[in-house]
Amino acid sequence: MQDAFSDAVLLQSRIAGFFPTPAFLCRLHNFEALNRELRDIILAREQTERGVVNSNIGGWHSGRDLAIWGGDAVDAVLGAAKEVANKATRDRKGRPARPAWRVECWANVNRKGHANKRHTHPGCYWSGAYYVDTGDGIGDGLGGEFQFHDPRGGALLDNAAASIVASGDASPLVRPEPGQFVIFPSWMLHSVRPYQAGGTRISIAFNLALPQELAP
Ligand SMILES: [Fe+2]
Repeated sequence: MQDAFSDAVLLQSRIAGFFPTPAFLCRLHNFEALNRELRDIILAREQTERGVVNSNIGGWHSGRDLAIWGGDAVDAVLGAAKEVANKATRDRKGRPARPAWRVECWANVNRKGHANKRHTHPGCYWSGAYYVDTGDGIGDGLGGEFQFHDPRGGALLDNAAASIVASGDASPLVRPEPGQFVIFPSWMLHSVRPYQAGGTRISIAFNLALPQELAP
């Protein structure tokens, strides 16, 4: 038990962390060759496909059929993402689950000034991004950070004159590196801060949705 405030007046005080929200930050082994291949596949596709506008402010957002044209390299990324999702999912009796995930994925190419507005991925279970190329870098004035937004309606800590201990960061930033996954519950609000550097920032985004029923 964490002994938070115990003193001469209080006995065995603890802070209970209600409503925790997990996000998984993982990095692939030996991602370099895979990322070179993914980069070539995605940038070649960018030359021939107009792309769509979704959460992206500028940049190129492919159709959601990357799993079809991405070949074995994209399969490797999706396989790893599913492994994380499997580790992070339990059935209603608390047992490990390996759902037959319904997958959709797409590629994002962002350059200077491009960003993604705040959004969720309705109807899915886990969502995430895999980083193929982080351009000239992320953060430290270069922008491009992945940002989560506090879903607890009234918890606008950054606007208050005081803050509640152990409440967490209201707008945590992630600075992804090449080969890294960021995987989170699909209902979590997130955005990408404007990229300010000159390089090309490439990521693969994906949704994993549950089938109608879990296998026994
Ligand atoms: Fe997203």
